[in-house]
Amino acid sequence: MASGMIPRDFIDDLLTRVDIIDVINARVPLKKKGREYTACCPFHNEKTPSFTVSPNKQFYHCFGCGVHGSAISFLMEYEHLEFVESIETLADSLGISVPREKGGNTPSKEQQKRVKDLFTLMEEANDFYQVQLKASKPAIDYLQGRELSGEISKQFNIGFAPEGWTNLSQAMAKNYSQQQLIDSGLLIHNDEDPKNIKTYDRYRNRIMFPIRNRKGQVIGFGGRVLGDDVPKYINSPETTLFHKGSELYGLYEARKFTKKLERIVVVEGYLDVIALAQFGVSYAVATLGTATTSSHIKQLFRAVPEVIFCFDGDRAGREAAWRALNNALPEIQDGKEIRFLFLPDGEDPDTQIRKVGKEAFEKSFVDDALSLTDYFVDSLHQQNNISSSEGKARFHDDAIQYLKNIPDTFIKDQLVTRLSSLIGVSTPAFLKGADQKKSTHHTETNLPRIGNREVRHTPIRYAISLLLSNPELVKFVENIEPIALSHLPGSDLLTTLIEAIQENPNTNAAVLMQRWQGTQYETPLIQLMQWQPETDDIEILANEFKDCINYIHKRTSEQKVESLIHKERTEGLSEQEQQELVFLLQQS
Ligand code: GTP
Ligand code: MN
Repeated sequence: MASGMIPRDFIDDLLTRVDIIDVINARVPLKKKGREYTACCPFHNEKTPSFTVSPNKQFYHCFGCGVHGSAISFLMEYEHLEFVESIETLADSLGISVPREKGGNTPSKEQQKRVKDLFTLMEEANDFYQVQLKASKPAIDYLQGRELSGEISKQFNIGFAPEGWTNLSQAMAKNYSQQQLIDSGLLIHNDEDPKNIKTYDRYRNRIMFPIRNRKGQVIGFGGRVLGDDVPKYINSPETTLFHKGSELYGLYEARKFTKKLERIVVVEGYLDVIALAQFGVSYAVATLGTATTSSHIKQLFRAVPEVIFCFDGDRAGREAAWRALNNALPEIQDGKEIRFLFLPDGEDPDTQIRKVGKEAFEKSFVDDALSLTDYFVDSLHQQNNISSSEGKARFHDDAIQYLKNIPDTFIKDQLVTRLSSLIGVSTPAFLKGADQKKSTHHTETNLPRIGNREVRHTPIRYAISLLLSNPELVKFVENIEPIALSHLPGSDLLTTLIEAIQENPNTNAAVLMQRWQGTQYETPLIQLMQWQPETDDIEILANEFKDCINYIHKRTSEQKVESLIHKERTEGLSEQEQQELVFLLQQS
């Protein structure tokens, strides 16, 4: 079970001790090419290798699909691990154990035991419900009425909570306390009326669907009525184990029952997942009665490169799709695909697959699902009548608002191209307003954030890329102040970078990237990391680096001179300022 946080220093240290070449080569054979190693990218389909790994930077990058990262992120992507699991794997390979920080949120031994017991409790409850199903004719009849096979019911461990208020609590009383049952969410404790405190089973006379986490542990249940009562479904409440907004029903089963999971269809209901699996579409998952969250999408992208959201064709379905699209925009990545599938009005995946079967379902729906770009452009077009100039302006305004939420990717570039041609303006004209709007409320680093091509090769940026490939060059920085004081684009990033390397001289680019992931430094660093110095010769590189630093010093003092001269002409200089000006002029 998770305990305290892993100290950041440990992660830094780990990334300087493992060799990313070994880590990747053990999984994807690499070929040495010059200073770097290459392979066909494991994250997208390609025939010629554009996946490169740099031993200096301890970083990988694919020029085809844009994936990049450290040994930690590689394992997360390649082996579908969570952050902590990936760190544990790397630590294991070095034969060291992962320390945890003591303090506030470190669970005690006792708390850890409580969580462990809760998992066992859920598993036992799951067994109980399954045994009950075998004994209940009405429940079996219901499942048969829905045409679920015995085999698929077993695979998904469908169960039944019998009629009555205390069946489960009585069965579990031997091994678990009442408090444990309440903590698990299976027992309701109603103390609203102090004179009449009641505890009773949450699930009564319901078909039970166990919800499992990635490891296959039962963390919650969904329970459906046999008839038309309301509520139709009851889901587990939020508990220590169960967090509705981040769980996906069926993901564990999809992994288990699909040989090579390449895409995932996201549907709405438990029975949709199960019916699809019964017909051989074993790669469906369901959100638990909530909209798709970004946490869902992150998890899905860790499992597969292609995610297809499936919706009913009615108005509610279309609205849900647009909400899903909105939540998906910030998660857009090159190399990952999001698509939208709409079923005919009145159908859900359960009814549709029963009508047409696997092959037709895949052919006419899954394979033909709209790409996110198509769906986005079409919907925006439908929402705005662009036959007039006013309509075009509204369309443009709307589009810009949505585009703001999309990370800078090739996909975004393509979207912009299509949106702008739709209203007949050039891409720069389309984006012009956007940049102005952006700059009013963004106080980010002053490096450009769009596509590689637009980054000019300035001395500051060159110094940053030199430091990323050879952190030891930091020893040539004698005085950080002129860099910190210069107002040149990128000087804030260069200053931060120098400080970080001075603090930890053994660091490498991967450590720094891992640390700055998700901050405003991530994008510029990725771009600058792609610049390759023309040579390996550390003396030449050192000279180039010194030139950059000298240039920055010179520019800083020029700036200072300019501002002093300006001040002299306007408000006059203090004695100290006059001396400084004289000194600076002599130097230059
Ligand atoms: P069937 O009617 O059994 O085929 O279920 P369905 O999955 O087609 O139902 P529906 O499309 O109505 O609901 C989709 C999902 O939303 C369900 O699987 C539940 O997760 C959730 N849901 C539906 N009704 C309720 C409800 O009354 N309460 C809660 N909490 N969730 C519900
Ligand atoms: Mn249904």
